[in-house]
Amino acid sequence: MDKKTIIWKVICGLVIIAVAVLLLSGVLNKSDVRYHAEALTRDQLTELKAEAPAETAYDGTVKADAWKAVFPYIADSMDANKNNDEIVDYLAKDPYLVNLYEGYGFAKEYGSARGHSYTLEDVHHTARPHAAANCLTCKTPNFAKLVQDEGVSAYTLPFDEVWEKINAEGEAVSCYTCHGNSAGDKGELRVTHTYVNKALGANLSAIDPATVSCGQCHIEYYFTPTDKETMMPYDSVEAMTPEAILAYYDEMVLPDGSVGFADWTQESTGAKLLKAQHPEMETYLQGVHAPMGLNCADCHMEIKMNEDGTVYHSHELVSPLASEALLESCAKCHGDTNMTQLVHRIQDQVTTRETEIGNKLSAFKDALADANKGFQEGAPGAKTEEELNAIRKLYREAQWFFDFCYVENSEGAHNSQLANRCLDTAAEKIAEGMALLGVEN
Ligand code: HEC
Ligand code: HEC
Ligand code: HEC
Ligand code: HEC
Repeated sequence: MDKKTIIWKVICGLVIIAVAVLLLSGVLNKSDVRYHAEALTRDQLTELKAEAPAETAYDGTVKADAWKAVFPYIADSMDANKNNDEIVDYLAKDPYLVNLYEGYGFAKEYGSARGHSYTLEDVHHTARPHAAANCLTCKTPNFAKLVQDEGVSAYTLPFDEVWEKINAEGEAVSCYTCHGNSAGDKGELRVTHTYVNKALGANLSAIDPATVSCGQCHIEYYFTPTDKETMMPYDSVEAMTPEAILAYYDEMVLPDGSVGFADWTQESTGAKLLKAQHPEMETYLQGVHAPMGLNCADCHMEIKMNEDGTVYHSHELVSPLASEALLESCAKCHGDTNMTQLVHRIQDQVTTRETEIGNKLSAFKDALADANKGFQEGAPGAKTEEELNAIRKLYREAQWFFDFCYVENSEGAHNSQLANRCLDTAAEKIAEGMALLGVEN
């Protein structure tokens, strides 16, 4: 044999051995070994420091249009939020809600949320009445800026006047909302909604900035009775539980000296009720992931790489189940668990219970309304005012705990334990109230 033949034989032999080793170790046998592509991580992010663009909106905010020249891929990814344009009509899906929200705007229209691009459009078209400009709090950076510039009086300006100006010259949720004008400074996050600092003060630093950035809006809030300022009903993470928030509302002293805050008084039951709103941050912070250092961006913003190698956060806010890259990031801790199945199992369990307890709550409301009618008409054997008030209190509490779970947008995925605790408490209050009314539950 000449030298060339020997070399070829050795090479062929080595290749055969290598393939055999790979087959035996299972690397090429995909059915046995799950193989995860590595997701890009935070420490691979490119440092994106740049000058803020000079072009400014009428109120001194830099609009996304201007940022487009600096970080086109980020501005484009934010623009992609318009792909999330589906609205589920909750009142058609869960008709008992119309009964529960009787006397309040949500009985007229209550659709699911969609992408940030639609905030201005949706707040204008809603069939729910808007009393004042405070409805714009979570819809546009230009209202946050107006509050910064003019103070609390901005909240009571006429809605239409403020909306028209912003719709013509401002924008929907945008760069300024989460970064102020400092997005060029490595994308530094800024709290632009003044009530967040007012409510949490020094305790704000206990929360990851990328969670606070979403928690400027994805929270429970109320309008203060004195000047209709948007406000959060707690001053620390520990006080973000539904139990503590209820106590906060129950104990609030109103301008007329009476005690107990209510969003509305329901005519048929005479009950003073609370409407919970999307408490995503509160629910998330009490859950399993927050103590492990994860933030909202980790599960809702993909880390992507450009053609030129720039690694950045996509600003299209998606469900982690809709993103291969985000699902890969779960694998680091969840291993081979089928995440879609895990999430759907929780959501199915929670929504099934919601329907069951929502219908019971609706029956409780009807029974209370009957008792209230009997009392108003002085019917024989009617409940006394005192007895009715005790039942109205149970109804207020049941409605609060039910609502806190129903209106949270992850349907149990952020914190299944808390979702179930809310539903358990609602069920207990309903049973107690029905027993006092002498009606079978
Ligand atoms: C809803 C809030 C929100 C909006 C709106 C927003 N950002 Fe961000 N941005 C974030 C968060 C959260 C991060 C991730 C910060 C972190 O945890 O590292 C981020 C990161 C960044 C970064 C740092 C690099 C990176 O990708 O992590 C830049 C630069 C940036 N954003 C620019 C912009 C620009 C420009 C706009 C408008 C076109 C914008 N952002 C709109 C929340 C927002
Ligand atoms: C300025 C207030 C504001 C901030 C800050 C904000 N959001 Fe939102 N978000 C909203 C509003 C309002 C909607 C509903 C828009 C609509 O339906 O018109 C929404 C909708 C969403 C949706 C779509 C929900 C659905 O059911 O399809 C997601 C996801 C979302 N936000 C995630 C985030 C994340 C993650 C952050 C932080 C990076 C964030 N948001 C910061 C106000 C805000
Ligand atoms: C550990 C991952 C994780 C973190 C961190 C996380 N979420 Fe979620 N979130 C989910 C999952 C899973 C769902 C359910 C998705 C679905 O139904 O497709 C969800 C759903 C949502 C929804 C409903 C919209 C949708 O796409 O279904 C909103 C809004 C939302 N989250 C906001 C937040 C906010 C705000 C934070 C931070 C306070 C946060 N999330 C933190 C995993 C996470
Ligand atoms: C830092 C580790 C870590 C990462 C990353 C992580 N998880 Fe988890 N997750 C856990 C642990 C620990 C638990 C609690 C034990 C369990 O249920 O497996 C958990 C529980 C959950 C639960 C059940 C929560 C509940 O309240 O019942 C869901 C849903 C979930 N994770 C979704 C996700 C999704 C989706 C991602 C990726 C987008 C993700 N997780 C990323 C560690 C992590």
